[in-house]
Amino acid sequence: MAALLPVETFDERAKQTIADDRPPAVEVLSAEKVFANGARGLAPIDLAIAEGEFLTLIGPSGCGKSTLLKLIANLIEPSDGRLLWWRGDFAQVGKEGRRLAFVFQEPTLMPWARVEANVRLPLEFANMPRAIADPKVADAIARVGLSAFNRHFPRQLSGGMKMRVSIARALVTNPNLLLMDEPFGALDEFTRNRLDDDLVNLSWERKLTTVFVTHSIYEAVFLSTRIIVMAANPGRIFRVMTIDHPQPRDQGFRDSPQFSAYCRELSTWLAEASLQSAGGGQK
Ligand SMILES: Nc1ncnc2c1ncn2[C@@H]1O[C@H](COP(=O)(O)OP(=O)(O)OP(=O)(O)O)[C@@H](O)[C@H]1O
Ligand SMILES: [Mg+2]
Repeated sequence: MAALLPVETFDERAKQTIADDRPPAVEVLSAEKVFANGARGLAPIDLAIAEGEFLTLIGPSGCGKSTLLKLIANLIEPSDGRLLWWRGDFAQVGKEGRRLAFVFQEPTLMPWARVEANVRLPLEFANMPRAIADPKVADAIARVGLSAFNRHFPRQLSGGMKMRVSIARALVTNPNLLLMDEPFGALDEFTRNRLDDDLVNLSWERKLTTVFVTHSIYEAVFLSTRIIVMAANPGRIFRVMTIDHPQPRDQGFRDSPQFSAYCRELSTWLAEASLQSAGGGQK
């Protein structure tokens, strides 16, 4: 079965470069993370993320997925090594064509504010005048299918709808790089599939570069152009799988034999990564 799949095998240095000639949105250059208490969150990671790529991080709990995502978001700094965004430092992130948005696992909405006010928040932070902001807010809410709910409060929405608001709040800034840490982890499978369908189309339409964290094998295969399987103790890249199926994708892909083959292969790799993660790992 493995021979049928266009998978890349892991080389011993876990060094991953871009498969084609698209420019990198992010480069992680031998970046590692040792926390203040001495815990080694990440061994040196080398990873280049191409513009337009949908990259997913998957692996056992504690393997450093959130730590790597936070490094990419510049929410934390590497203890050694460095990162580049669009071939430069973080100071240029936020400029036109180089915007970044982060979606957390919890929707983190302001409970006292209506949907439209929650979505408008990042534009208010940027001091954008209401006349310019309002159509952008309406467009972002429409994109996640919540136009009929823009005057609702978060408590009047289901979990899936709150997550949609959270995604609209990320989209309203017109990001180029979208970072999502287990955004649909708390949702039922049906709702998760629907949001995945929307996300895969949206990222395609908007030419987003997306880095996504999940524990779901099905979600990883459905969404991704490339999947990074990580192992723990210390957190590191274990293997890389390229999902060679055109985007945007639909239910037809989920129902295909190719999809099942990818899922089986990924499941085997995850089991191996978990074994490698137990009892201190490789180094
Ligand atoms: N601020 C911190 N201080 C000390 N250790 C930390 C800190 N943040 C994370 N760690 C440790 O670094 C390792 C990686 O954590 P991280 O949260 O990145 O894992 P994860 O892959 O996102 O796990 P999960 O799937 O459970 O979300 C873990 O061993 C964790 O305990
Ligand atoms: Mg995490």
